[in-house]
Amino acid sequence: MSHTLEQFASQCHGFLKSSPGPTGRQKVAEALQQILLDESFIAKYLPPSTGEREVIYQDPEMGFCIVVHHYLGPKSSDPHDHAHSWAIYGQVRGRTEMRDYQKMEDASADKPGKVKVTRSYALTPGVAHVYNEGDIHAPERKDSTSLIRIEGTDMSKVKRFKFEVV
Ligand SMILES: [Fe+2]
Repeated sequence: MSHTLEQFASQCHGFLKSSPGPTGRQKVAEALQQILLDESFIAKYLPPSTGEREVIYQDPEMGFCIVVHHYLGPKSSDPHDHAHSWAIYGQVRGRTEMRDYQKMEDASADKPGKVKVTRSYALTPGVAHVYNEGDIHAPERKDSTSLIRIEGTDMSKVKRFKFEVV
């Protein structure tokens, strides 16, 4: 079955409104998994011309964003959380090696925090994973990838602290 962005956004809105917190996000992740495998949705919203970060929907009431990403070649990030917010990573093409971390020391504006790796796993096409407030993670992508991510708020406008691996 083919989905539209409007239907999916309204489904997300409903889940996040009726079940605030991790429960609603898990429902969004399950709905996102259907979208990741919807070839016509992907052809429309994630064509090869997609940039590294494009917000395709922002909810006017709740502020969450649906974001598409197309990374040409390798793309990795240092360990991070999403500050006061959360994010759901959905893999469309390629493979993301994700690491999760435990915080050993808090971060501040002047000083990076310290983290220790706890586990690593692969995000492959069709897989969606929820990162709640304070969940520290680092994606490593060795080749080109495409993703759909849902952010609790537009993270390009949020200042985040840095973490060092110990
Ligand atoms: Fe992240």
